[in-house]
Amino acid sequence: MAPSDPATEHAGTTSLSLWYLPEEPALARTRSARPRRYLMCPPAHFAVGYSINPWMDPDKPVDAPLALAQWEQLREVYRSLGHAVEVLVPQPGLPDMVFTADGSLVVDGRVFGARFAHAQREPEAEAHLRWYAENGFAHLHVPVHINEGEGDFTVTASWVLAGRGFRTNPLAHGEAQEFLGRPVVGLELVDPRFYHLGLALAVLDDAADEVAYYPGAFSPGSREVLRRLFPDALVATGEDAAAFGLNAVSDGLHVVLPQAAAGLCDALRERGFTTVGVDLSELHKGGGGVKCCSLELRD
Ligand code: ARG
Repeated sequence: MAPSDPATEHAGTTSLSLWYLPEEPALARTRSARPRRYLMCPPAHFAVGYSINPWMDPDKPVDAPLALAQWEQLREVYRSLGHAVEVLVPQPGLPDMVFTADGSLVVDGRVFGARFAHAQREPEAEAHLRWYAENGFAHLHVPVHINEGEGDFTVTASWVLAGRGFRTNPLAHGEAQEFLGRPVVGLELVDPRFYHLGLALAVLDDAADEVAYYPGAFSPGSREVLRRLFPDALVATGEDAAAFGLNAVSDGLHVVLPQAAAGLCDALRERGFTTVGVDLSELHKGGGGVKCCSLELRD
C-alpha cells in the first residue's frame, strides 16, 4: 500500500475529519427561541424620591404616565414573542417594586428569596415570597445574607454567576449554591454605575454559556475569570453599558434591549440574534432597564 497522502486521507474520511474542525463559531450559530415566563410589576407607584444608586436624581422629574406606558410596551413585546407574563401587584410606598428582577431568583422551580441592601426596598422581598407561596412554588428559601436576586445573579447553562461589591453579600453566593445545587461563580463589580451584575453582563444563550459583558465593570481578577469561562463572549463598550444595553433579556433568539445601545444591537445581529429595541427612558432614571423589570420564572 502506498504511503498515505494526508490530503487524500483527509478527503476519504469525511466523518473522521470533522473531529478536527473547530467548533462552529458563535457568529454562525443557528438561533432558536424557548418560551419563557416572566414576573413583572407595573410601575404604578414608580418615583425617584430617594437616591440609592448614581442614576437616581430626586431633583430630576419623572413622567409617571410615560413610565407606565413604556412598561406596558415591554410587556406587550414579551407577549407578542409568545412569552407568559405574570403580574405582581404594585404596592404604594415601594417605588422600586417595578424592578422585579431584584426580588428573587428562581432556578428549577426553586425560589431563592432576596434580602435588600437598602431599607427603602426591604418590604419588596416579602411581597415576592408571598406571590410564590400563592402561586404554587413549593421550595422557598428565606435568605440569611443580603442578596438582590436576579439583580446580582444570572443563570447560564453551566453556572450561576453572582455579583458582589455593591449590593449582594459574597456570603449569599455560597448560600445560593447550597440551596440551588448549582455552581455559583462570584464576580467582583467595581464601577458604581454598574452596581448590579445585571447592568454589566447579559446572558444571550442560556443553553450554551453565551454572554455579553462590559469588562470595565469588573475587577481585574473577575475579568480574567470571565475570559476563561466565556472566551467567545460578546465584549460590549462602556457606552452601550451606560445605555443599559447589557440589561437585556434574551429568549435564545430575540434579545430585548434599549434601542439606544446601537453598537450592541449591531453586534448581536451579526451573531444571528434578532434584536427588539425598546425605550424605558423613565425607568432608567431609577437605575434600571429591561432585565431589571423582568424576573424569569425558571420552572
Ligand atoms: N432604584 C433601584 C435600586 O437602586 C433600581 C434597581 C434596578 N435593578 C437592577 N437590577 N439594576 O435598587
